[in-house]
Amino acid sequence: MMPSRALVLGILALTTMLSPCAGEDDIKANHVGSYGTCFYQSDRPNGQYTFEFDDDELLYVDLDKKETVWRIPEFGQLASFDPQGGLQNIATEKHNLDVLTKRANFTPATNEVPEVTVFPKFPVLLGQPNTLVCFVDNIFPPVINITWLRNSKSVTETVYETSFLSKRDHSFQKVSYLTFIPSDDDVYDCKVEHWGLEEPALQHWEPEVPAPMSELTETVVCALGLSVGIVGIVVGTIFIIRGLRSGGTSRHPGPL
Ligand SMILES: *[C@@H]1O[C@H](CO)[C@@H](O)[C@H](O)[C@H]1NC(C)=O
Repeated sequence: MMPSRALVLGILALTTMLSPCAGEDDIKANHVGSYGTCFYQSDRPNGQYTFEFDDDELLYVDLDKKETVWRIPEFGQLASFDPQGGLQNIATEKHNLDVLTKRANFTPATNEVPEVTVFPKFPVLLGQPNTLVCFVDNIFPPVINITWLRNSKSVTETVYETSFLSKRDHSFQKVSYLTFIPSDDDVYDCKVEHWGLEEPALQHWEPEVPAPMSELTETVVCALGLSVGIVGIVVGTIFIIRGLRSGGTSRHPGPL
């Protein structure tokens, strides 16, 4: 009787101790759906209407073609979104912007300095297709040109760019992808133009190929290795001979 009751109590205590942890896990597993990153800006006037999930773009509304574009086409087979909703929101934003611009006495927005990072998506192997990622952070206002240069010449094919992705501080991020085949001869730059930069920022990238050893280094390494080997053989032989001698004397102690 007693032990089983103690066991039940023990299990109860354990469950109570475990349950707050489960609660925390639930919180960690939360997702963020940002419903309609909707903005309009007055330079070469354009806006953007996007849906995001966990900081990724789900869809945007093409304001010229008046259609929904899914970030991954398969999404569109699972769900649908009426582009009219986006277009109406943009129209409202445009109206609000006019009102606010006048109220702010046409004071322009403050330009932030964007931060540019370039890295390959997969470990780089020469000749193996890969993707270069140009990640631009801290963008404000959302007016930017991100382009790719291969050996200082502009590349336009095999480039894909995300919409502006929202951040909690109301600045934006944008990612440009360049699919490419790493080669010894090609160097790349991600070029970013933004009003927060005095001149276009060039973020350089080139494959890291291990530097070939010079002939002198090779000779020195070879000579060193050889001498260490020879010394080893000599010392080893000495030890073996000594060992044999002392072993010989100890194993066959003289009659004295
Ligand atoms: C982006 O490029 C266009 C066309 O070259 C240019 O007119 C515009 O000023 C550029 N935008 C920025 C922010 O530099």
